[in-house]
Amino acid sequence: MNTLQLIYEGKSKRVYAKDEDTLVIEFKDDVTAIDGLVKAVAIGKGVLAARISAFFFKLLNDAGIKTHFIEYDGFRRIIVKKLEIIPVEVIVRNYAYGSLLRRLPIYKPLQKLEPPLLEFHYKDDDLHDPLVLEEDLIRTGILSEQELDFIKSVSLRVNDILTKFFESKKLKFVDVKLEFGKSRSGEILVADEISGDTFRVLDENGNHLDKEVFRRTKDAGLLLKAYLRLAEVVGVSVDGVFSSY
Ligand SMILES: Nc1ncnc2c1ncn2[C@@H]1O[C@H](COP(=O)(O)OP(=O)(O)O)[C@@H](O)[C@H]1O
Ligand SMILES: [Mg+2]
Repeated sequence: MNTLQLIYEGKSKRVYAKDEDTLVIEFKDDVTAIDGLVKAVAIGKGVLAARISAFFFKLLNDAGIKTHFIEYDGFRRIIVKKLEIIPVEVIVRNYAYGSLLRRLPIYKPLQKLEPPLLEFHYKDDDLHDPLVLEEDLIRTGILSEQELDFIKSVSLRVNDILTKFFESKKLKFVDVKLEFGKSRSGEILVADEISGDTFRVLDENGNHLDKEVFRRTKDAGLLLKAYLRLAEVVGVSVDGVFSSY
């Protein structure tokens, strides 16, 4: 039985309207890479991503960071505040990896970036989420200077909290992609998800506990194994992950 109204279906999530100010985000088992060109299904991924996201949003909320997260709704869903998403992806990088190495191969792989490097990408699949300048964001009116400053400082605080968390688990927190949205009252909150789909973490042997496993191997089974390890390390339950719903 489902009385929620589907308002958006993306690559990895479905978004339902719960009431005027609240949404339900449902994490699918789908996994995509290369802008959606490679697709697979990893049974159990959705539930794990929902639980891991809920865990990290709670961690941030408890640290005084304002996020869209309200509560975990069981299985593959979280309940969040409805926002107007700002079409910018903020990437915070602690070590050189991924698209940074492709863009500028003179960085050494996993070179430490201290202080962390902030990147902004314009969120548009057709344009392949291009890297943009801070100036672009201001001059196009996507963000005011104050909003940009706020987003930068929150991104660095979020990165700090996540870095400390993963350090305490003996893991290397490589980078993270954040999204932000505006509430009706104009407040800017951290939105979307915080999971192995949006951050990279390495164990002491250099193994990924994140979506990089799929980007490299295109193997949904290996991805799920990495996600189960991530859940275990983070301390979220893996109970009932494979039951169908
Ligand atoms: N609190 C929120 N309010 C409104 N939209 C949100 C919120 N949090 C996340 N979203 C949006 O919901 C969508 C989630 O689906 P996803 O599968 O990630 O889509 P996409 O393929 O566009 O990345 C994204 O477009 C994301 O920006
Ligand atoms: Mg997305």
